[in-house]
Amino acid sequence: PEFGVVLLKTVDSTNEYAKRLVRNHQRLDVVLAEEQTQGRGRRGRQWQSPYASNLYASFVWPVTEGMRQLEGLSLAVGLAVLQAIDDLGVEDAGLKWPNDILVGEEKIAGVLLELIGDLADQSHVIIGVGINVNMQRPVEEIGQPWTSLRHQLGGYVSRHDVYRGLLGHLRRILSVQKLEGFAALRQQWDARHLWRGRSVELSSGVGLVKGQVTGINDRGELGIRTSRGEEFFAGGELSLRLA
Ligand code: BTN
Repeated sequence: PEFGVVLLKTVDSTNEYAKRLVRNHQRLDVVLAEEQTQGRGRRGRQWQSPYASNLYASFVWPVTEGMRQLEGLSLAVGLAVLQAIDDLGVEDAGLKWPNDILVGEEKIAGVLLELIGDLADQSHVIIGVGINVNMQRPVEEIGQPWTSLRHQLGGYVSRHDVYRGLLGHLRRILSVQKLEGFAALRQQWDARHLWRGRSVELSSGVGLVKGQVTGINDRGELGIRTSRGEEFFAGGELSLRLA
């Protein structure tokens, strides 16, 4: 079957657009936009999406293997984005659990996954990826430290090249994830975790956990050594910061 691409000049959010199409039973694989007027980040944040500067993409991924295909999926996507960024020549990029891509302390890309439909039925995951490509200062302050490929590489970067690299890595990693599960990617992911061994605070709806990052398990959960021993935490609405 062909690979369906929609390229928009402007859109509220490529994730929202992809969701609307899937709900209307239209087949497509990726939505790209030059600009988003309501770009969304994780945990209800905004994602700055200036015109023609960056990559805003949402991939539509059918869930055929049930829950197992979803475990660790957002981490797997982060790894694919990181590999695409590595290939462009960025040094010292890494991951922050669950799916931030950073250079040092500065964010260069982010991933937002949304599930549509329930697993009993035909469901899909919308895989939203935002990569800061040519965005330059000064822009409106984003509220968290950020960088872009252009800042890192010292010159204009072709979004076409970024997209092509991303698509290649994403296809490969998503097929490993589907056939073998996240367990097959865990070691590669952990090796690039910038916060491994660091002292952190993890906040969730129920409270604050303090401890040291150990590693992640086969389900993509984060291990933290607390006063009670090693405990694992699943993604969702957790927020992790250095203590
Ligand atoms: C995050 O790190 O908070 C996730 C950011 C995800 C941004 C991308 S840009 C394409 C897609 N459309 C959106 O509205 N968000 C994602």
